[in-house]
Amino acid sequence: MKILDQRLLPDSIKFITVRNAAGTAKATKDMALRGAPLIGCAAAFGFALEMRRLKPGSAAELIKTAKRTADLLKAARPTAVALFYAADRMLNMAVTFAAKHPGKFSANTLKQLLAQADKEARLVTKEDEDACEAMGEYGARLLPKNCVIMTHCNAGALATMGIGTAVGVITAAHKKCKIKHAYSCETRPYLQGARLTIWELMREGVPSELLTDNMAAHIIKTCGVNAIVVGADRIASNGDTANKIGTYGLAVIAKHHKVPFYVAAPTPTIDMAARDGGDIVIEERSTEEVTFVKGNRIAPKGVRVRHPAFDVTPAALITALITEKGVISPVTRASIKQNLAK
Ligand code: MRU
Repeated sequence: MKILDQRLLPDSIKFITVRNAAGTAKATKDMALRGAPLIGCAAAFGFALEMRRLKPGSAAELIKTAKRTADLLKAARPTAVALFYAADRMLNMAVTFAAKHPGKFSANTLKQLLAQADKEARLVTKEDEDACEAMGEYGARLLPKNCVIMTHCNAGALATMGIGTAVGVITAAHKKCKIKHAYSCETRPYLQGARLTIWELMREGVPSELLTDNMAAHIIKTCGVNAIVVGADRIASNGDTANKIGTYGLAVIAKHHKVPFYVAAPTPTIDMAARDGGDIVIEERSTEEVTFVKGNRIAPKGVRVRHPAFDVTPAALITALITEKGVISPVTRASIKQNLAK
């Protein structure tokens, strides 16, 4: 599998080759690929690649390898539920296959398994691509004419297998001539907004500007921002939403200024097992990502650092969730349940 190394963007476009689940997990952990839906899709293919290493054997061996593979992939990052969704879906496919082929299986049976694994991974990907299109349509309809919009982190094509979630909404609205201006927050410390989102917006011809995260309140107050749209890594069953660190602060500012705050995310982002945001594990990443920028130290040696990579925005601060099944507003446990049942 070829992976666009997002760590090098926007300066250079280079692909790395991944041949198994361990390679996929490493690329995910090291941020060569990132963004909730994308790490899920990559995990599905990483799983399918790992199956190719199987030798003809028994159903029991298949189940053992499949479980080990899913666990390896899921250990890469803890917050984005898309990773768990995709790994578990591939695991279910393998377990179901094993149940249909009990005992020893031949090279031919193995061939069938590989074909099914590839098919399932492609399906996970296609569903994400289609979901992005649908969210773009629903989201674009929600936005006013001459919309001045702000986004945070990168929820664009780079983070998905389609046009993106939040950025997909902006580009779909831009195609309908509804976007007057888009602002991308730089997204300290990993700079997804500065390196990726503004790059995508520029490539799509969206009139846009980059700002540092601490400029957001001032820009919202003084520049006519009338919508904010972000993506999500995990949405609890009550609508509390984990997304890139800084999202919560933006939602509080939006509430103060009565600016609608939208979260665009495909339904596999909704974790019905999480009762509320308190059940979501927040990834803590390395201190070096905070103390170094492009290899340059920006803080004293030996400094103590915190680096939560995500935060949780309470459902009450979210105007609407934009999913591929439609718009959920108000964001409540009941309205989410209703949307999922569609
Ligand atoms: O740490 P990252 O870059 O993987 O975090 C990405 C985000 O927080 C995105 O906003 C989220 O995954 C949605 S991507 C469509």
